[in-house]
Amino acid sequence: MLKEPVIIDTDPGIDDFMALVLAAKCERFDIKALTPVAGNQVFEKVWRNARGIAKLLGINCVVTKGAEKPLILEQELADAVHGETGLGKLQLPESDAPVCEKYAWDVMYEEAKKNPGKLHIIAIGPLTNVAIAIKKYPDIVGLIGKLSIMGGSAGFGNHSPYGEFNIWVDPHAAAIVFRSGLKVQMFGMDGNKTCQMSVQDFHDIMDLDCAIKQEMNDALSFSIEAAHGYGAEAPVLHDAVTMAGIIDESLMEFVECYTDVEVRSKTCFGRTICDVRNTWGKQPNSLVAVKGDKEKFKSVIINTLKKYR
Ligand code: RIB
Ligand code: CA
Repeated sequence: MLKEPVIIDTDPGIDDFMALVLAAKCERFDIKALTPVAGNQVFEKVWRNARGIAKLLGINCVVTKGAEKPLILEQELADAVHGETGLGKLQLPESDAPVCEKYAWDVMYEEAKKNPGKLHIIAIGPLTNVAIAIKKYPDIVGLIGKLSIMGGSAGFGNHSPYGEFNIWVDPHAAAIVFRSGLKVQMFGMDGNKTCQMSVQDFHDIMDLDCAIKQEMNDALSFSIEAAHGYGAEAPVLHDAVTMAGIIDESLMEFVECYTDVEVRSKTCFGRTICDVRNTWGKQPNSLVAVKGDKEKFKSVIINTLKKYR
């Protein structure tokens, strides 16, 4: 099988961890790099988490340096959702892999040049690294094969009425990406929420015997408790839904439309404006997730966990 060169830009993050659990066993992927970005936690922690996750899951690739803050705004963390380490109760051993001194944006450009029209960048954190790559190497837009993101929403937000965390923490970066000329496959939180699992679904997964059962329980049990803290029955594993929707392309339905990012309004700052009715008559720049299949999502997780023996 011809493998797809992939770079996963991430801010681990409990749901990032679950997304990487899925990606690590996807036979179609040739994972070239994990490119950490400050988001759920400060850069030092997400960098260490990405290295520890790569070691735990046997992802044999570089873990680069990356953006330590948003382009303009002060950093906002999601520590209430992901905990002080970023991975809930999951404690990973320090990775002994050689430290890669290269930066995310330089590696993205290197891999895009080596694989013209084929590199798939999967961004499941704030878009700071991707935006810097576009500004530093404008020709990267013509070299990237596909850009998929977890971010934004055609409806409600989670960090403000319309602001979803990955976009809201660095909307200037997101605006650069959506206005770059790239076609963005956008797994927004409203579309992902249609794959919301119940607490029973989580227990079905957490009870599965597999080689990473303890690590998964340490991460997901914290996520469930955090969800109860913000009034939800169970968390939506946004990054895992995104990765599952990339692995099983039948899982999510999309609409094609023009999307922009609000960077001025006080009330809608950080909102993705998805013009699904084409009122602006602009050329579409995004495929926006609208409806997913929760049972298919759960099956992707269960079938993947069975590969961890
Ligand atoms: O809003 C959900 C997104 O924000 C996910 O990527 C989660 O990991 C956090 O980064
Ligand atoms: Ca994330």
